[in-house]
Amino acid sequence: MRVDRFLSNLPQFNRKQVRLLLVERRVTVEGVAVSDPHHDVREFSQVCVDGEILQAGKPARYFMLHKPQGCVSATSDPQHSTVLDLLHEPDKADLHIAGRLDFNTTGLMLITNDGQWSRRLTQPQTKLPKVYHVQTEQDIGPQYAMKFAAGVYFAFEDLTTQPAKLERLGPRTARLSIVEGRYHQVKRMFGHFDNKVIGLHRERMGPLVLDTSLAPGQYRPLTDDEIRLI
Ligand code: URA
Repeated sequence: MRVDRFLSNLPQFNRKQVRLLLVERRVTVEGVAVSDPHHDVREFSQVCVDGEILQAGKPARYFMLHKPQGCVSATSDPQHSTVLDLLHEPDKADLHIAGRLDFNTTGLMLITNDGQWSRRLTQPQTKLPKVYHVQTEQDIGPQYAMKFAAGVYFAFEDLTTQPAKLERLGPRTARLSIVEGRYHQVKRMFGHFDNKVIGLHRERMGPLVLDTSLAPGQYRPLTDDEIRLI
């Protein structure tokens, strides 16, 4: 949120006072004086006026998890275990999943409390490739790659998928790179050819690659370098 809006939303300041506070450089965000009303304030930012803390800020947290089969990528589920059950961290209610996976899909899952960061990762506009290793029931034909590059029509949403890149690795295995995250997207793309996906594993989201030292169900915090990549 813009800093001027953040301050105006507080009961103690009106808009005119906020303008003045900023001009007089009495506002600090993360300890740095700001005068630009557009300056971004996030839930993690510490915000002070005249040295008085108005928002304490929370540490941003980022995790990479190797999602196993048979767990739901949701924060809670009445029936099944969820990916959050695999995390042994405090304040799990603050965390959310950046880009869900189906119940039996395995692979890279990113979990954070930073909504802006996860939006950058998952928005189709940013065109970050999500790369999947796919195993199918039938042979993958030579016509698939061209169709996926042209886009597959999804009648339910009345849209055509954005260009996707298919690399055939074997008769029934491939690597597929997509920039969106439509509901069951990969399965439905192969479904266009009546070819059932029987194994699906996410290897990468943009520049973030699943750490191969993580066994299914294991996780680790992202490094500062990894966080900065998004
Ligand atoms: N596409 C699917 O069909 N399933 C997933 O879990 C991810 C992408």
